[in-house]
Amino acid sequence: MIQRISAIEEMKAVAAGLRRDGKSIGLVPTMGYFHEGHTSLMLRSAADNDDTIVTLFVNPTQFSPCEDLEKYPRNLERDTKLADEAGASFLFTPDNASMYPAGYKTYVTVEGWSSRLCGISRPIHFRGVTTVCAKLFNICAPDRAYFGMKDAQQLLIIKKMVRDLNMNLEIVAMPTVRESDGLAMSSRNVYLNPEQRKAATLISAGLTEAKKLVEAGETRAEKALEAARAKLAESPLIKIDYLEAVSEDTLEPTQDVGPGTLIAVAAYLGATRLIDNLSF
Ligand code: PAF
Repeated sequence: MIQRISAIEEMKAVAAGLRRDGKSIGLVPTMGYFHEGHTSLMLRSAADNDDTIVTLFVNPTQFSPCEDLEKYPRNLERDTKLADEAGASFLFTPDNASMYPAGYKTYVTVEGWSSRLCGISRPIHFRGVTTVCAKLFNICAPDRAYFGMKDAQQLLIIKKMVRDLNMNLEIVAMPTVRESDGLAMSSRNVYLNPEQRKAATLISAGLTEAKKLVEAGETRAEKALEAARAKLAESPLIKIDYLEAVSEDTLEPTQDVGPGTLIAVAAYLGATRLIDNLSF
């Protein structure tokens, strides 16, 4: 049966005890409201490690004041059950006051990379993500931590932080889990009304168009982006935030597509901002 822990000191002591006993620890950091994307990470972690710690913390430092922190969907009882069924041993649910007590001052930033792509419209977002992940890695002392490829920029930034700061864990990337019509699973999909939900399928459909073109031999990034843009333009409900081809090594825009290129998109449907991507 999964054990819920909310005190940081208790979580640290439990993780240290597991390590002393020679147990491997897998970590699945989340903000809750689980869908199959989350449970796929938990199942993989449970298969790879002796114990899995799932963390559930809606991290305030990665939300700007105008974003959806307060209305971010929550369901602790359902999440506890799903994490248990997916084989997690612990659900760590710290609160804001213990993660960021009065006088908190330390932040981790992967410079440059945090202000590209999603960082343009969400300037403090990745600083919050890297800071909370560094804290969770220190508290839970995992051998491996699991992240979904849907948040491609987050994944690349966390890998970079781990390399740059010589952190002692492996980052495991897991494929994006999709609805049957292609829409990437996201806790934010619940915000969509039926028309927006229908239009949202054009995001993955646009990426598929780009992929088809590249698989047919196109190497010019602009042509692949044009194909995706044309698909997204089929619905007036979609407002593109960005659609870019970048190098996975630098996050800088690239003229050519091929291995090591990421095509990333963020689009608004009403007030809801969805992201998706494709890598080659
Ligand atoms: O991907 C998320 O849900 C969050 O950004 C993460 C990694 C749990 C950090 O708060």
